[in-house]
Amino acid sequence: MKLTPNARFSTLCLHAGQEPDPTTGAIITPIYQTSTYVQQELGKHKGYEYARTQNPTRETLERNIAAIENGAQGFAFASGMAAIGAVATMLKAGDHVVVSDNTYGGTFRLFDKVLRRYQLSFSYVDTADLAAVERAFTPATRMLFVETPTNPIMRITDLAGAAAIAKRHDARLVVDNTFASPCLQRPIEFGADIVVHSTTKYLNGHSDSIGGVVVAVRADDIEWLRFIQNAEGAILSPFDSWLVLRGTKTLALRMAQHNANGMALALFLEKHTKVQHVYYPGLPSHPQHELAARQMRGFGGMLAFELGSLEAARHLLNNVKLLALAESLGGVESLISHPASMTHASVPEDTRQALGITDGLVRISAGLEDIDDLREDLTQALERV
Ligand SMILES: Cc1ncc(COP(=O)(O)O)c(C=O)c1O
Repeated sequence: MKLTPNARFSTLCLHAGQEPDPTTGAIITPIYQTSTYVQQELGKHKGYEYARTQNPTRETLERNIAAIENGAQGFAFASGMAAIGAVATMLKAGDHVVVSDNTYGGTFRLFDKVLRRYQLSFSYVDTADLAAVERAFTPATRMLFVETPTNPIMRITDLAGAAAIAKRHDARLVVDNTFASPCLQRPIEFGADIVVHSTTKYLNGHSDSIGGVVVAVRADDIEWLRFIQNAEGAILSPFDSWLVLRGTKTLALRMAQHNANGMALALFLEKHTKVQHVYYPGLPSHPQHELAARQMRGFGGMLAFELGSLEAARHLLNNVKLLALAESLGGVESLISHPASMTHASVPEDTRQALGITDGLVRISAGLEDIDDLREDLTQALERV
C-alpha cells in the first residue's frame, strides 16, 4: 500500500494518508473513540495527549482529504459551517471580504448576522464577473471567498482569474468546493490558498454524517488553523471521521455516476414543456459552459430549474415519489428541494429575486439511482404541475 508520488486520483482517494493500524495491521483505520491517552511517564507520550487536540482517526481523514485536494494540510471540523467559521478567524476587526453573491445561505447568515458584529465587512458580488470582483476590492480586503459552482444557480467563477486578483491584492482566495468535490475541481491547482468543504455532502456521500474540512497550503495558515481547531474545539468526532474516510474511498466512482445522472436529468428537463429554464453547467446553453468544461472534470450532480411559480413548484415537490423532498445534497440518494423556502430562506427576498432564486425554482441533487427511475418519477410529478 505504498503510494508512488504520481498516484492518480482514485488511488489517492482509497489510500492516501492511510497505513495499516500499527497495533493490529487492521487495513481500515480504527475509530479511536477515546478522550485522552495514557502517558508513559511525566513528559513522555506517543504524540497524543488529549483528543480535542489529536486523534488518529481524524488525522487520517485530514491527510486523506489534503492529498485528494492537492493541499498541504487538512483540518476536520464538526460541520461545514464550523470549518467556514474557523477560516473566518484568519480575519481581524476592520478586515473586508469579497464574497460570491450566490453563496450558500448558511454562509451568508454567518457573515451577515454574526461576523459583522465583530467589525468585519463583506461585499457580495457576482464572482463570475472578474471585473466586478476587482472593483469590489478595497485596501482593507483580506479575503476573496468564492463558491463555484454556486448554490443553487450554478454560476461558475474562473478560479485562475480569481486567484490572480487575490494575489495582486495580497488577499487569500478561499474556495468552498462542496458542490464540485475534489474529483471534479481542485482549486489549489488554480492558485487558491484555502479550500473548504461541507463533508456532509459528496465527500461523505451517504447522508449519514455532518462534517467539514479546511485544506490549506501556506505554512502560516496551517499554523493558525491548527491552533484555532484546538482553541475553539469544533472538531469532527472519531466516528464521523471514520464515516467520511469510508466515503472518500468511493468518491471517484460515485462522482462518475452523479455526473452521468446530473447530465441526463438536465437534458431531460431542458426538453420538458413545463420547465422554463435549467441551470446546469454541463448544458451547452449554460452561459459559462466552456469555462466549466475547462476548469472541471465533469459537471456534477447538482442542477436547478425554473417552473414559473410557487404553485407549480409545490405540485412537483408534493408529487415526487422516488426523489426525496429534503435539504442537503451529494448523497447516494436523489434529493429535491425548494431553495427559496429551504436552503436559502435566510437570504432576504429582494436579494433572492436578484439572484434568480425565485419561488418557482427547484433544485435537484442527482443521486445514484437508475436514471430511468428518476426520469419516470419526474415525468409523473410534472404531469401534476
Ligand atoms: C456549499 C455549502 N457550503 C457549506 C455548507 C454548510 O455545511 P454543513 O451543513 O455541513 O454545516 C453547505 C450546506 O449545505 C453548502 O451547501
